[in-house]
Amino acid sequence: MTRFTVAIDGPAAAGKGTISKAVAAHFGFAHLDTGLLYRAVGAKVLAGGDPVAAAKSLSPDDLQGNLRTQEVAQAASRVAVLPDVRAALFEFQRDFAARDGGAVLDGRDIGTVICPDADVKLFVTASAEVRAERRYLELSEKDAKTTRADVLADVVARDKRDTERAEAPLKPAHDAVIIDTSEMSIAQAVAKAVAVINTCR
Ligand code: CDP
Repeated sequence: MTRFTVAIDGPAAAGKGTISKAVAAHFGFAHLDTGLLYRAVGAKVLAGGDPVAAAKSLSPDDLQGNLRTQEVAQAASRVAVLPDVRAALFEFQRDFAARDGGAVLDGRDIGTVICPDADVKLFVTASAEVRAERRYLELSEKDAKTTRADVLADVVARDKRDTERAEAPLKPAHDAVIIDTSEMSIAQAVAKAVAVINTCR
């Protein structure tokens, strides 16, 4: 098979990761969680590093470890406003998208900036309350100290920063298909994404 790119964007904790993994498995595509790149840069900054230097020197090892904390998520959204950080991560994402055999990338700017010519663009969203509740259940398995109010505040603050930034703000591409998963199960959301992709193949 040749190139086929699926761009999946959306706000914090919308279920992009779950849907992307399932879609990649269904079609046999490779998957890149681009949020992990920003989280890895954020974690390096929390450890005292410079954001641009961190982005330029990112290695596969940096993507290991527990990057799925609220502290790292906030640090990620702070470094994500920096044009030089985004520029340093651009080529890796672009190359990944162009690989043979198909690729799914999920993030905030995949359909708008990284892959404006993607074969399929999905914008996965849900109400802030539903997203916070899902993320709370996920995080509280690992960290009993997290509260629902904390998680909602994190989600709302990141959405605001991600939407209002000048560089590659979070927004649906003009040709994206919006999937609101507020009242969908995971299986329903995945089925919807697979159906949309099938219409474009
Ligand atoms: O999993 P969740 O939706 O909570 O976040 P994530 O996808 O891991 O992304 C963490 C942060 O990285 C976001 O809040 C954005 O600020 C940033 N990000 C970005 O700016 N552009 C991307 N393509 C992906 C993530």
